[in-house]
Amino acid sequence: MRLRIVDDYEALSALAAQLVADLVRVKPEATIVAPTGETPQGFYAALARLHSQGAFDASRLRVFQLDEYVGVAPNDPRSFSSWIQRTLLDPLGVDDTRAVRLRGDAADLVAACRDYDEALRAAGGNDIVVLGLGRDGHLGFNEPPADATAPTRVVQLSAETRATLARYWERQDTVPSQALTCGMTNILAARNKLLLVSGEHKREILRRVMTGPVTPETPGAYLRESAGVTVIADVAAWPWPHPPSVAETTIPPHWRA
Ligand code: F6R
Repeated sequence: MRLRIVDDYEALSALAAQLVADLVRVKPEATIVAPTGETPQGFYAALARLHSQGAFDASRLRVFQLDEYVGVAPNDPRSFSSWIQRTLLDPLGVDDTRAVRLRGDAADLVAACRDYDEALRAAGGNDIVVLGLGRDGHLGFNEPPADATAPTRVVQLSAETRATLARYWERQDTVPSQALTCGMTNILAARNKLLLVSGEHKREILRRVMTGPVTPETPGAYLRESAGVTVIADVAAWPWPHPPSVAETTIPPHWRA
């Protein structure tokens, strides 16, 4: 696991965009699994800026959305599908035929998950998954308990997660109670995993992810046992004293539980 502890959200966003742009430059046909939420917004903006400066070609990129609400159509502005459209696909000019949606409005949700996994396999697997971190340790919508083998599936959103999402809905009781999520298996199989963590409110869960027991109760902790993981955290989210001039490091043994 690589750690990059940066000063603030802006630096986190710029570094994440730089890493993804570098990867796409080397592999223009890369598959990227993309999250929504607050954390990656600066990253998407920074990536769009790099793209508009000609830093990389996005025309052959394949974009998979990480998760989606059940019962919400892709053209609903609150859907994660339209979120990804606005923040990633449109700014980078990625053609619709190169985007794979998780269809939360499908009549057969099991088939929708199967189609998604099949499309990921057909694309040659996942080059990079970008992840935010839920306050309960979820990755995508792999709510605890979720172990490393959890498949792409329908999940029940926890009360805590729904409360966090309420700001995007009129009222808390209108937040969908179920979602589709890319499974832990696919997330952990990605060749590169980029976990973005920002803000003091993520400090406790980041501590658990980095040093707590690796169990289904903290899905994010499975990243510690996985290859190709980079964590970018800002100092507000980093639970330990900020080592001076840390640009890159690995977890010191004494931080382990
Ligand atoms: C969203 C997603 C979630 C979020 C997580 C953190 O597509 O997959 O796992 O990344 O809930 O959300 P924010 O960034 O809003 O704190």
